[in-house]
Amino acid sequence: MKTDSFRGKDFLTLLDWSKEEVETILDLALDFKRRYAVGELHNHLLPAKSLFMIFYNQSLRTRNSFEAGMTQLGGHAHFLDPSKIYTPAMPGKEVAYSTERVSDVARVLSRMGDAISIRCYGDPVDWLYGGSHELIKNFAYWADIPVLNMECDKYHPFQALADIFTVKEKMGTFKGTKFVMSWAYSPSVHKPRAVPQSAIIAASMMGMEVVLAHPEGMELDDEVLAACSNYAKRANGSFTISHDMREAVKDAHVVYPKAWCATPIFQPPVGQNDHAKTQAIFDANKNWICNANLMKLADPEAIYMHCLPADRSYEVTDEVIDGPQSVAFDEAENRLHVQKAVMALTMK
Ligand code: CP
Repeated sequence: MKTDSFRGKDFLTLLDWSKEEVETILDLALDFKRRYAVGELHNHLLPAKSLFMIFYNQSLRTRNSFEAGMTQLGGHAHFLDPSKIYTPAMPGKEVAYSTERVSDVARVLSRMGDAISIRCYGDPVDWLYGGSHELIKNFAYWADIPVLNMECDKYHPFQALADIFTVKEKMGTFKGTKFVMSWAYSPSVHKPRAVPQSAIIAASMMGMEVVLAHPEGMELDDEVLAACSNYAKRANGSFTISHDMREAVKDAHVVYPKAWCATPIFQPPVGQNDHAKTQAIFDANKNWICNANLMKLADPEAIYMHCLPADRSYEVTDEVIDGPQSVAFDEAENRLHVQKAVMALTMK
């Protein structure tokens, strides 16, 4: 791998990056974390560089970890609310003096700064599955600077980097680590598939023993599942699917339960744009919760993970998320370190 192979590269999904590149990011993130711990400044890495952050959806962790990360690297992050600029829109979705074509926004920002990061999923693209990923890819096509995916309807690659970084930190190894990504109930039916899809991609790429557990109707993208099977074969790991949360969690080293939306919520051809059917699937599976009894089925040293925000009392009990096995807050902090690594590598 050439040392400058990262420079100028977009970060849209881990599927575009090799295992070797991902391992380099994790190594650099660990270096940044250690430097940060001893108060060593590294603000000479991106001096006077600008990151433009466009958030179509809400965020606590992503926004603040990118903003703090840019400050620590010596640059600045601009927060852009699409409703307060001319909302970047794809051809066919434009409204006079209210939106601005993505190609124009991407080219303007490329003249002024050093990277563009975007979060977009769900309502802004009318639940057209893949619609927000296409929008971000369109930004990447037109921009001359790196485009970073801060979560679309398919992928949340920075969350996945923080997830596997946390596993490495806690377990010391990926080999033989049973990683269970499970659906869990939430009263909201609107959480995207991006986190579980990126988590299983990352875990399979690293060669873990990956189990995806969910009720019928919560299936993930076939292309993602196929990629996971391929990664598992290549890395001598495994990838299996279960419809039984308790069975899946048995002897797990990593228990990662969270809600994601059911297939019927998407527009055809993926779903039926049927919110009532989506709600019915959720309501039939309220027993998919991570509590102390579930954690007892896992390995005694197992860790509990969640990308946050968690729906307490639904996805997880307070006892688990606030308990000794929870690494959810380390996982949140690690967003900062992995993102700094990607920004330093791509924006330098
Ligand atoms: N995990 C995550 O992406 O959190 P935010 O929605 O707060 O950014």
